[in-house]
Amino acid sequence: MDKKLEDLKVLIDSNTIQKRIEEVADSINSNYNKYEILNVICILKGAVMFYTELAKHLKMPVKMEFISLSSYGNSTHSSGKVKSLNLSLPTYENENILIVEDIIDTGLTLDFLIRFIKQNCRAKNVELAVLFDKKCARKYNIKPDYAAFDIDDKFIVGFGLDYQEYYRNLDFVGYFE
Ligand code: IMP
Ligand code: MG
Repeated sequence: MDKKLEDLKVLIDSNTIQKRIEEVADSINSNYNKYEILNVICILKGAVMFYTELAKHLKMPVKMEFISLSSYGNSTHSSGKVKSLNLSLPTYENENILIVEDIIDTGLTLDFLIRFIKQNCRAKNVELAVLFDKKCARKYNIKPDYAAFDIDDKFIVGFGLDYQEYYRNLDFVGYFE
């Protein structure tokens, strides 16, 4: 592997991430009826850390769903195509959906998923929460309803985000210089 852990610079430490996720959960809690079901969809694998931390702080009844999507392959740039690994979802008749993703970059992945959900599920409302918003890389008109951090156009790893499948397990987020 060409990118080594000792060359990784910390961008956001673990405490800062945890605190910010709690704030995001607070704003989600304040926007929903606390008795109404929220279907929270995790986009594997990248969102897994953000998803579990966020879910712990949600106060309404939550139903969890997991799907696999990827657009990067093994590179540090978007391939321009979305690969769906298991895209079967319930209909969510008249229920709320919150999609949870690690990072929104070009917006391709989420554009694909949101279209899919709107065509295939009869949900009442679909919202999007991301850990990172790389606004400057956007090519599709998608805006997250909740974004924990805005970041520049740099390639980051940790807290679910990978480089060639490595570094997802780190409790902080870093970048290679
Ligand atoms: P998009 O479809 O171009 O918006 O890309 C979103 C996907 O690309 C995310 O779900 C990530 O898996 C991946 N991605 C984008 N930027 C980064 C990064 O800086 N580090 C690791 N993965 C990234
Ligand atoms: Mg991803």
